[in-house]
Amino acid sequence: MAQHLSGPANLEGQVAFVTGGAGGMGRAISAAFKAAGAKVIATDRAEHEDLGAGIEYRRYDVTSRADTDSVIDAVLSQHGRIDILVLCAGIIARTPLAESTDDEWDAIMQVNVRGVVNPARKLFPLMCERGYGKILAAGSIAAKNGGVASGPAYVSSKAAVHGMMRWIAKAGAPHGVYANTLAPGPVETAMWANVTGGTTAPAANSTVPLGRYGNADDIAQAALFLCSPASNWITGTSLDISGGMWMD
Ligand SMILES: NC(=O)c1ccc[n+]([C@@H]2O[C@H](COP(=O)([O-])OP(=O)(O)OC[C@H]3O[C@@H](n4cnc5c(N)ncnc54)[C@H](O)[C@@H]3O)[C@@H](O)[C@H]2O)c1
Repeated sequence: MAQHLSGPANLEGQVAFVTGGAGGMGRAISAAFKAAGAKVIATDRAEHEDLGAGIEYRRYDVTSRADTDSVIDAVLSQHGRIDILVLCAGIIARTPLAESTDDEWDAIMQVNVRGVVNPARKLFPLMCERGYGKILAAGSIAAKNGGVASGPAYVSSKAAVHGMMRWIAKAGAPHGVYANTLAPGPVETAMWANVTGGTTAPAANSTVPLGRYGNADDIAQAALFLCSPASNWITGTSLDISGGMWMD
């Protein structure tokens, strides 16, 4: 099903698969995609999550290739196809380099990198075969500026995600498969609360040109654009959504 027409962000009739779907961004993206007409399958690691009417929830751990393959196979046999893959599962650590441990590096790389590889590796060839697909991963401003409140393992993992999406964008372009990365600045979700927990976050109006931190809906609207046919001449990009904290 080639979809080569541009137009307003509309996902009518499309099937979207979201990882980290119970998190701040994943939840907002799932709701925005549903409102735009998509059938949304949101996944996360908890057994049960209520994501609102009309959004299907499935539990799985993105670090497991076997779990990834079986949940995607189940979705494919129920819905026939997946047109959109959004990769939002992620964890963060702030430990500076000298104090960082092997366990911390392994955990971050497992979730933030392998957790992107697993679903992309399964779906990319199927999307190529069908001639259409949109893959969107949550990268970070950290991959560009060295981190706002994150340690080197997180920064490295996000840089890997930006690179991986560019590889997929090049390989997928002749087949109608797109891959892009979001590069958000600080967004007020559980992850940001975790990072700033117990301490006072720097005042947004002194660090963010647009004077506030982001919210999950800011991210969802950008995701909607990048996953719809409205962005059909955009692939391999890293979209800065940072209130002007990073400009390139
Ligand atoms: N919040 C920010 O400031 C910010 C900024 C830039 C990038 N990001 C990135 O955006 C993405 C979404 O972040 P968020 O702010 O919504 O965070 P969040 O913590 O609210 O959501 C992340 C979700 O990932 C899920 N997850 C973690 N490990 C998993 C696993 N092994 N299997 C399945 N699910 C797993 C968590 O359960 C959680 O629901 C992350 O990749 C994050 O690194 C966040």
